Amino acid sequence: MTISDSQTETIRRRYNRTALFYDWMDKMISVKLRQKAIQQAEGKVLEIGVGTGANLEYYLPGCQVTGIDFSPGMLEKAMQKQFKAKVPVTLLEMDAQNMSFPDNTFDTVISTCVFCSVPDPVQGLKEAKRVCKPNGRIILLEHVRSENPILGLLMDILNPLALHIIGSNINRDTVMNIHTAGIKPLEMEEYSGKIIKLIIASPNE
Ligand SMILES: C[S@@+](CC[C@H](N)C(=O)[O-])C[C@H]1O[C@@H](n2cnc3c(N)ncnc32)[C@H](O)[C@@H]1O
Repeated sequence: MTISDSQTETIRRRYNRTALFYDWMDKMISVKLRQKAIQQAEGKVLEIGVGTGANLEYYLPGCQVTGIDFSPGMLEKAMQKQFKAKVPVTLLEMDAQNMSFPDNTFDTVISTCVFCSVPDPVQGLKEAKRVCKPNGRIILLEHVRSENPILGLLMDILNPLALHIIGSNINRDTVMNIHTAGIKPLEMEEYSGKIIKLIIASPNE
């Protein structure tokens, strides 16, 4: 087992535990913002880190959604919400860092609050780029480290706690990770003092 495998195993176990209280705790992203992100998805959609299925009810007719997550505990909750979806949904246990889909499979690859948790976020984003069709879209709604020096420092200090309790990092530079993975942001909207970003990107640089 490599270091990265053991990190992945640790975060997976944490999310199995977090699944027990995630829906109760999850207030960071408003329903309005989730809807805004999800309703831009079209065609064959891959939702990475589908979690407890908080987004499933917002997909618009015409989408066929595949939701993946590496945590069986989170997926179990998503299965309970599957009936709320207006579109066909398939849920699979899979690691975003090593997906089993062929290249260029999906019209839309989407995630909400996931690349804060993926142990190797650049590898996960490279996989998102690989499985997205060249003319497809990658939609990311993510929270990131604050640009405010004091708040940023506070996030750095509190990060080990969030990582330990939930499995999520609160101080990632996801915009830099997107560029490093070779994904090109086309539009970016910022919320909550620029901590939350909605990014529409192309898999082509
Ligand atoms: C903070 S939760 C967000 C869940 C959901 N997207 C939402 O908006 O409510 C992060 C999710 O990403 C999943 N995740 C983290 N790393 C992953 C990986 N390498 N592969 C698949 N899922 C992963 C976790 O299991 C968890 O369900």
